[in-house]
Amino acid sequence: MKAAIFSARRYDQALFNKSNVQFGHELLFIGDRLTPDTARLAVGCPAVCVFVNDQVDAEVLALLAGQGTRLIATRSTGFNHIDTAAAAALNIAVVRVVDYSPHSVAEFAVGLLLALNRKIARASTRTREGNFELDGLMGFDLYGKTVGIIGTGKIGNVFAKIMQGFGCTLLGHDAYLNRTFEQLGGRYVGMDELAALSHVISLHCPLTPDTHHIVGRQLLAHLRRGAILINTSRGGLVDTEAAIEFLKTGQLGGLAIDVYEQEASLFFQDLSSTIITDDVIQRLVSFPNVLVTGHQAFLTEEAIGQIVQTTLESITAFEQGQPLVNRIPSSA
Ligand code: NAI
Repeated sequence: MKAAIFSARRYDQALFNKSNVQFGHELLFIGDRLTPDTARLAVGCPAVCVFVNDQVDAEVLALLAGQGTRLIATRSTGFNHIDTAAAAALNIAVVRVVDYSPHSVAEFAVGLLLALNRKIARASTRTREGNFELDGLMGFDLYGKTVGIIGTGKIGNVFAKIMQGFGCTLLGHDAYLNRTFEQLGGRYVGMDELAALSHVISLHCPLTPDTHHIVGRQLLAHLRRGAILINTSRGGLVDTEAAIEFLKTGQLGGLAIDVYEQEASLFFQDLSSTIITDDVIQRLVSFPNVLVTGHQAFLTEEAIGQIVQTTLESITAFEQGQPLVNRIPSSA
C-alpha cells in the first residue's frame, strides 16, 4: 500500500526501509509536518503516517479524505493531536502504537530527574570550560524521598519501579487504580496530597480535556516547597506560564520537560541559526533549575524498532481487511 510518512527524520527512513523489506509497502518520506499546506503531498496515498506534532485536525483530515486517504497511522501512543471524531465522520480509520518500550520514556524521565537534581548538565558545561568548582552543584539524595506519579499506566509503573529501587516512597494519582503500582508499595492519594507530600512529581498520564493543565496554579500552590516537576508526557499537562511564576518564587524547585505546550513550531528542527520568537521557552531555558529536551524520551533503538514494526503491520492489516488491533476506539 502507498503510505506517506510525514515528519520523517533520517532515523525513521533508515528503520522504515529496513523493516519494510518484509512488508513491501510503497513508502513516501516527507520531512515536513502535516499541515493544510503539506497535505497535498500525500495525494494518492491510502495510508498516511504521522507523528506527535503533525496537524491531524478536521480541516487536514477532510483534505486527506478528498485525496483518497483511508488510514491514519500515528507513530505514537498518545493521540491528542488527532481529531478522532472527525476521522470517524470521514470514514478514516486511526491506528496508533499502543505498546512500545515503556522503559524508553521511564528511563529518560529518571535521567532528567538525576541531571536536574545533581546539576549534571551544568557541571558538564563548566568542566568543558576548565571550571571544576563545586559551588552551585548541590543536589539532594533521592533515597528516602517521596515521589508522586500522576498516571500509573505502563510508563508510570516502570518509572515507579525504578524509583522504588532508589529507595523512594511512592504516591500515585490516577483515574483508575492499578494493582501493579500498589504491589510496588505505591499508595494512591488525591492530587492535593500528592502535591503537598512529594519531593518529586513525574507526569505519565495522557493529554485529554480532563488533564489539560492538570499542573496549573492551583496544584502548584499546593506543592511541597522546592519540589521538582518532570514532564515526559505531553506539554499541555502543564500551564507553562504558571510554572514560570512558581519557579520565580522558589515554590517549584526545578522543572525538567521533554514536552512543551507550544512544541509544534519548535521541536524536531534545528533553529540554532534563527531568532526564536517564543518568549516562554526562551524564559524557561534561561533558568538554571530548568532542563528542556526536545521530545526525545521515546528515542531508543528498541522503541523506534517497535514503532516502525507495529505501524507497518497495521498498514498491512488494513490493506488486507484484517482486524486493526491498534485501532483507536472512537475512530471509524
Ligand atoms: P497508559 O495508557 O499505559 O497510562 C496512562 C495512565 O494515565 C493510565 O493509567 C490512565 O488511567 C491514567 N490517566 C488517564 N486520565 C487520567 C487523569 N485524569 N488523571 C490521572 N491519571 C489519568 O499510557 P503510557 O503508555 O504509560 O503513556 C503515557 C503517556 O506518555 C502517553 O499518553 C503520552 O502522552 C506520553 N508519552 C510520551 C513520550 C515521549 O517521547 N515523551 C513517548 C510515549 C508516550
